[in-house]
Amino acid sequence: MLAEDVKGMRAKHRILAEKSFQVVELDKGYSNRYLRVDLTTKEISMHAVTEKMKELWTGGKGFDLWLMLLEINNKTKWDSQENPICFSSGPLGGTTSFPGTGKTLLTSISPLTNIPIDSNVGGYFGPFLKFAGFDALVIVGKSEEEVVVVLDAANQKITIETAPAESNDSHLLADELTCMYADTEIDRHNIAVVSSGSAAKHSRIGMLNFSFWDWRRGVSRLKQAGRGGIGMVFCDKGLKALVAKNRDITPSWRIEESKVAHHTNPKTISTQDCPEEIAFIDDIIHRWKDDKEYVIEMMQDIQKRFRHISRTAIDRINKFTGTSKAYLYHIATFYKSLSLDEKGEITIQVCMGTACHVKGSARIVDRLEQVLGIKCGETTKDKKYSLEAVACLGACSIAPVIKVGDKVLGNVQAKDVEKIIKDPKIFDIARVME
Ligand code: FES
Repeated sequence: MLAEDVKGMRAKHRILAEKSFQVVELDKGYSNRYLRVDLTTKEISMHAVTEKMKELWTGGKGFDLWLMLLEINNKTKWDSQENPICFSSGPLGGTTSFPGTGKTLLTSISPLTNIPIDSNVGGYFGPFLKFAGFDALVIVGKSEEEVVVVLDAANQKITIETAPAESNDSHLLADELTCMYADTEIDRHNIAVVSSGSAAKHSRIGMLNFSFWDWRRGVSRLKQAGRGGIGMVFCDKGLKALVAKNRDITPSWRIEESKVAHHTNPKTISTQDCPEEIAFIDDIIHRWKDDKEYVIEMMQDIQKRFRHISRTAIDRINKFTGTSKAYLYHIATFYKSLSLDEKGEITIQVCMGTACHVKGSARIVDRLEQVLGIKCGETTKDKKYSLEAVACLGACSIAPVIKVGDKVLGNVQAKDVEKIIKDPKIFDIARVME
């Protein structure tokens, strides 16, 4: 993207509304405020996040729907002015330890069903919103002219601007806006662009495209997310794009005193001193030819053999492949199939996704905790079972769903738990679904 082209495009922008704000430091993962933008009145306002709201946020469910209920009434349709698009990055904005992996919950009334939808947009947008200074963003109203909303934490202002010269294609638009709002080349890492693309104008199943700067390739890349036609709602509001710009390279951060932080930051990361085990680890790494392109595969093999990734394993991969330890820890804590803590022989995962949540998966977790004598996120002393809460397991129609080892069980009830633990035959899905 040529700098002159971008300058020419920006010169055509008209600022329709602007509001300054002070960036605040996160307090245990919260900025304690959310942003509301009304595209009809061009009003930009900030609102407090209260303790009650934080309770609703626990587990990532509830808060986004609550924000939506503040805006809608029983006549609201998907294309009503008041139908909001709510982006909620929750207390974590992703994981507690490693930014850049964070999730955001996205809520609106769907043009497909005219009822609220709530989707989990994984990937990168959560931390962008969080580090730009807000726990959530609510967009309501409709703009007569197509606009971009720019949340710029570096310059501490939010603007609603026309953007008549930029492309409609999401790939090009993301590149143009990223180059436009970045002060330097490295600053492109700090920018995420959300757009629906022109296809959403014609399709009720339009998704949203979330961009992030791919430093390896030197381009903006897109991740498609947001189901239920939310792209169409975005388009219908006259929104061409939403740009979130962080203050600086996303800072490294942690939430202490949090249940989730406890699970993701094991106090002690084990080491392996046994020469045979080290030789085994080295063997795995050499099998992948010490190639840094295959560090995930190496870690999967190590996890399979030792049921965890030890500090020793991280050190050996770092030594042979030259991959930074920070990156390796990032991988080890990002993928659910990898773990820094030694897992049990059998991992029981309980889905806490929306469908399972509303059908009582929390009761299943409670019962499993009682029967196994451990808390969620822990492993039994005999290393037989590990218990985990996870997001959607992809079998929502048979919610609530749990996964025992590699078997998926549907329509599970809390009263089934003991049978599942005691009787291996219960691992047959058909029995549970009877
Ligand atoms: S929400 Fe549980 S399987 Fe989809």
